[in-house]
Amino acid sequence: MNHFSHISDSNTSKAIGRYNYNDVDFEFLTERINQFRSQIKRRLNGELTEDEFKPFRLMNGVYLQLNSYMLRVAIPYGTLSSKMLRGLAYIARYYDRGYGHFTTRQNIQFHWTKLEEVPDILTYLASVELHTIQTSGNCIRNITSDEFAGVAQDEILDPRIYAEIMRQWSTLHPEFSFLPRKFKIAISGSSNDRIAVCFYDIGILTCLNKQNKPVFEIWVGGGLGRIPIKGKIIRNDLPPEHLLAYLEAIIRVYNLHGSRNNLYKSRIKILIENLGIDNYREQVEKEFQAMDLDQYRLSNDIMTSIQENFGQPNLVDVPNASETLKKHRQENQAFNQWVNHNSYPHFHKDYIATIISLKNIGETPGDMTADQMDALADLAEEYSLGEIRVTHLQNLVLGHVRKDQLYVLWQALQKHHLAVPNQGLITDIVCCPGLDYCALANARSISIAKKIMSLFQDIHLQEKIGPLNIGVDGCINSCAHHHIMNIGVLGVNKKGEEFYQIKLGGFSYKNNATIGSILGAALTMEEVIEAIRKLINFYLEQRQKNEYFIDTFNRLGINPFKEIVYASA
Ligand code: HEM
Ligand code: SF4
Repeated sequence: MNHFSHISDSNTSKAIGRYNYNDVDFEFLTERINQFRSQIKRRLNGELTEDEFKPFRLMNGVYLQLNSYMLRVAIPYGTLSSKMLRGLAYIARYYDRGYGHFTTRQNIQFHWTKLEEVPDILTYLASVELHTIQTSGNCIRNITSDEFAGVAQDEILDPRIYAEIMRQWSTLHPEFSFLPRKFKIAISGSSNDRIAVCFYDIGILTCLNKQNKPVFEIWVGGGLGRIPIKGKIIRNDLPPEHLLAYLEAIIRVYNLHGSRNNLYKSRIKILIENLGIDNYREQVEKEFQAMDLDQYRLSNDIMTSIQENFGQPNLVDVPNASETLKKHRQENQAFNQWVNHNSYPHFHKDYIATIISLKNIGETPGDMTADQMDALADLAEEYSLGEIRVTHLQNLVLGHVRKDQLYVLWQALQKHHLAVPNQGLITDIVCCPGLDYCALANARSISIAKKIMSLFQDIHLQEKIGPLNIGVDGCINSCAHHHIMNIGVLGVNKKGEEFYQIKLGGFSYKNNATIGSILGAALTMEEVIEAIRKLINFYLEQRQKNEYFIDTFNRLGINPFKEIVYASA
């Protein structure tokens, strides 16, 4: 079957909020898949050993995990069209075990793929304008963005246009294909941090300068993993037209001086810690000043040509939309509860964005079944202009829902278990695959997350506790951000047994970004669940009016929390 044949038939209108492929893009992917198909063939017939094959598979997002090969698919700037989501459903249903796992860096992982089927999967993915390039290896990874891009009222510019430019610039950039280590970039079109800007190799926020012109505030050297480090501002007034030149300067200095012989010291965060941000900035500025800026300039023509390639949302004024929504909320308490937790304001007065929680009690956080993907693709077409976004906390967003249609959408979502009203609450847990799938894990993480979710499944209790986030990681690589969650759980290996360390007080966002502190000695799985129950009860007893968990923690400090967990042990 020619997987591309239906594209020209069905792709009559442009997908909104994202770049639409042209013939050159399809040709590039076809060529790339053919190369990988032949590399896989050589691996399968024994011409290549697993070690020899490794660099090829890593260039194509294929990991070797505990049970099988795993495929990581990039979702550029977290935006999916309904066609793409149906494509992912197809892969989940026919090539995996009926589900996929959304990550915190706007990727989706398929954990049970068969190597011999990977070329067909990639061909199918290409037909829906998706690929796996640069989702692993020491290169610039999938560029992530604000899940409320093009929706948020405080947005200064649409970050997805810049994210797309960075995607095109970084894909197979000859100078940056073999960096000392992986490199992650995120961008938001607002100065209010919704991307956890301090915890990327490069994080970009958008501000207005004194002349009311947009400028980029560039953060560098943040990251999690074994050594969590908060990024620092390297430049706060970069004119957007110089974005590529400045990024190139930053990465060039890293490429030159980053460590290549010690895996644990090879991220840019370590280089910047060692050199100091002022020294690093000086080197970057020198490099930048020496560049031919015209060659890199994002001229109006370039910006327009990329922008024109993005489908634009057709938003209409809807008479009485807000009143209709208000009436529905008054009439139905469960709906009102869901809107309270799972909605986000839209810049257009008659629209609203809604967060689809992938944190169903009893299910693996971040997992979505093929049937749910198909259903959500249909609903996105009917109610949200065919566009779906992936958040960095393993949920999804429908960005452009008419307020008068939210109630009908909610009823439809319920049928597919996609209307869990827990966004931002204690059961909205971020969780890595851990020892159930991951070859690097020390301990299981999914089981702990599920136990915590079931302990707090009563929605009234969750509401009483208020906003609180938990991240559960199976090892120190910190895929689920445990370092910067209010409560972080980390799997450790003690003489071959699974144990867990608790961190408290982490916070992800710019102004108050904090790396959590270790509470005490590692505990067994049962002890961790009991400890979390005690910590929450203690917080509920101690909190003052309007305090969230993190506020009470910051006011009291770690010691009383430590005592509550360890005193009676
Ligand atoms: C199961 C396969 C996975 C493997 C083998 C894997 C491997 C790793 C490794 C080795 C690191 C540490 C990199 C370093 O410190 O230099 C890392 C970091 C990370 N991974 Fe994963 N990961 C996997 C799945 C995931 C999933 C499912 C998520 C999201 C839920 C995720 C999100 C992240 C994030 C956010 C980081 C931190 C990046 C930073 O330090 O800036 N990964 N991963
Ligand atoms: S945190 Fe560790 S165990 Fe969990 S997915 Fe990442 S590498 Fe694997």
